[in-house]
Amino acid sequence: MTKTRDFYGPYRLTRLIRSGSTAEVWEAVEEHEQKRYALKILKASMAKDKSEVAMLKHEYNVGQDLQNSPRIIKILDFKTANDRPFLVLELFSELNIKQALRRGPDSLAFMLDKIIEQAAEGLYYMHTRGWIHLDVKPDNFLVSRDGETKLIDFTISEKKKTGLSKIFHRASLAKGTRSYMAPEQIRRKICDERTDIYSFGCVLFEMATGKPPYTGDTPNDLLNRHLQSSIPSAIAYNKNISKPFADLIKSMMAKSPADRPPSLWEFLKEIRSMELFNKRPRKPEISVFDNMPGIRGADDMIRKPSRDELEPEEET
Ligand SMILES: Nc1ncnc2c1ncn2[C@@H]1O[C@H](COP(=O)(O)OP(=O)(O)O)[C@@H](O)[C@H]1O
Ligand SMILES: [Mg+2]
Repeated sequence: MTKTRDFYGPYRLTRLIRSGSTAEVWEAVEEHEQKRYALKILKASMAKDKSEVAMLKHEYNVGQDLQNSPRIIKILDFKTANDRPFLVLELFSELNIKQALRRGPDSLAFMLDKIIEQAAEGLYYMHTRGWIHLDVKPDNFLVSRDGETKLIDFTISEKKKTGLSKIFHRASLAKGTRSYMAPEQIRRKICDERTDIYSFGCVLFEMATGKPPYTGDTPNDLLNRHLQSSIPSAIAYNKNISKPFADLIKSMMAKSPADRPPSLWEFLKEIRSMELFNKRPRKPEISVFDNMPGIRGADDMIRKPSRDELEPEEET
């Protein structure tokens, strides 16, 4: 039986949204109901790697536990077609926050309160279900032109350790993304929701200023800054950030978890009661969202499926 090369089961791939190191994310149309989804497909070179397949399956399992929040992308199915395992996701055809910040923080500033609240709600929901995300960073939130925000990417999420499992904690490979990793995560100590709060603080810093809180010449250098450097204030890079907001971000980035807000519930209470800016930011005349989705012009976003990418590498 021959299949058109653009098909994965009933899904016809229509647009490559993003190609990462292990997976590609595609927009796809389901043939029968003509509904659009996002597919996260393991790259051909990873499709037989047991640990990569296990991580994708793990992401599916985590997603099953998080179906009820509109602030979290729904993971609908785990399937295999053309020898490639993939996830079927709710499509939220928008930018991730990293992309939305490409032209600087002004692109989001005028709706930052909404974005922050929704992002925190998604992450807080995850915590109430006993999960720690562990890879909180701007690329793992999707945002729409009116500020609707959803959390994605549970590849390395873990159940929060309690009681016995805390005693039997064994240091595993430090996972996460260097620019956003909490000290205890770098040191491979036990992580909890405050680990995500640290990374989320780094995300807020970047949304407020357009740059991550620390940079380094080498990966080790960067990790050391998270461990040792003094905590920067967002005001140093953006004079319009209010003092209470800058202080809240700093407290989230405290080196010791005990010095951070204890939960996102506390965080939400505080953020809702403050002004983020001294002067209310204006909506830019040209929106970062106008140039992208559909998605014209974004280098990493348009490419037609090519034969190589879509077919299993070899058939024996
Ligand atoms: N459901 C979705 N709808 C639209 N775009 C998505 C969706 N899921 C992921 N993306 C895009 O694909 C990128 C990579 O997805 P992600 O799940 O984070 O994979 P990775 O594990 O490779 O980081 C995201 O940063 C986002 O731009
Ligand atoms: Mg990701």
